[in-house]
Amino acid sequence: MREPTRHTPLAPPHLDTWVVGTRIIIVDEINSTNSYALRLGGDGTVIVADRQTAGRGRHGRAWHSAGGLGLWFSVAFDRPVPGISFAAPLAVRDALKPWLHADLKWPNDVLVGGKKICGILVEHRNGTTVLGIGINVHHRPEDFPETLRATAGSLESATGGSFDRTEVLGAVLTELDGKVKVLREGGCERIRRAWADACRVKGQQVACGDIFGIVAEIDTHGALIVATPNGEHRIVAGEIEPV
Ligand code: BTN
Repeated sequence: MREPTRHTPLAPPHLDTWVVGTRIIIVDEINSTNSYALRLGGDGTVIVADRQTAGRGRHGRAWHSAGGLGLWFSVAFDRPVPGISFAAPLAVRDALKPWLHADLKWPNDVLVGGKKICGILVEHRNGTTVLGIGINVHHRPEDFPETLRATAGSLESATGGSFDRTEVLGAVLTELDGKVKVLREGGCERIRRAWADACRVKGQQVACGDIFGIVAEIDTHGALIVATPNGEHRIVAGEIEPV
């Protein structure tokens, strides 16, 4: 695989936030920023890595985290933040608005032009909640492993523009901070509704494993209620595809 040549420097962004980014740690290389943040904790602490050697995705999958090409970071919270998995993809979408239009794909992928540019993984350990966000920034198609090329994109490949990772990081942390404040002040349902609307999945015909049907609704826990000829199925997690 080609060594990246276009990467922008990664520096702590200047933030004026409430809790997110109270401490920002930037490292060159780490196994997974989520693992580090789960060990370290600290409300609002952000760990950013230039490269992850064992980045984790959802469903036990690996997350491709090449050096210099993306934003791989985690935010620790010292208590549960109900609704954070709804707020995070909205925060990424809203942060990117000055540059591009992004879509959400249930449950928490962010897509540009139909390609996944961001994945989100929320994990909990010993009272600490960690929100991990991976954003593909500088990748060209050939920077992804062949198995990902059809589905993965980056901010630059999707727009043809150039992005500064520190600037994008600052925008995402700022949006996230605003949404965490809303959640902690009792606005979870408002955020959940905004997220459910943004997923635009209601009424869609979808497949998830061997379940085929029409999405009747997204329930208050964020699960999909899918109407099939055999009755309703509740899908809590997984990959759905439009059919
Ligand atoms: C997904 O499968 O879509 C979720 C991917 C989450 C990747 C991010 S990168 C930063 C953080 N550290 C990890 O090990 N995973 C998350």
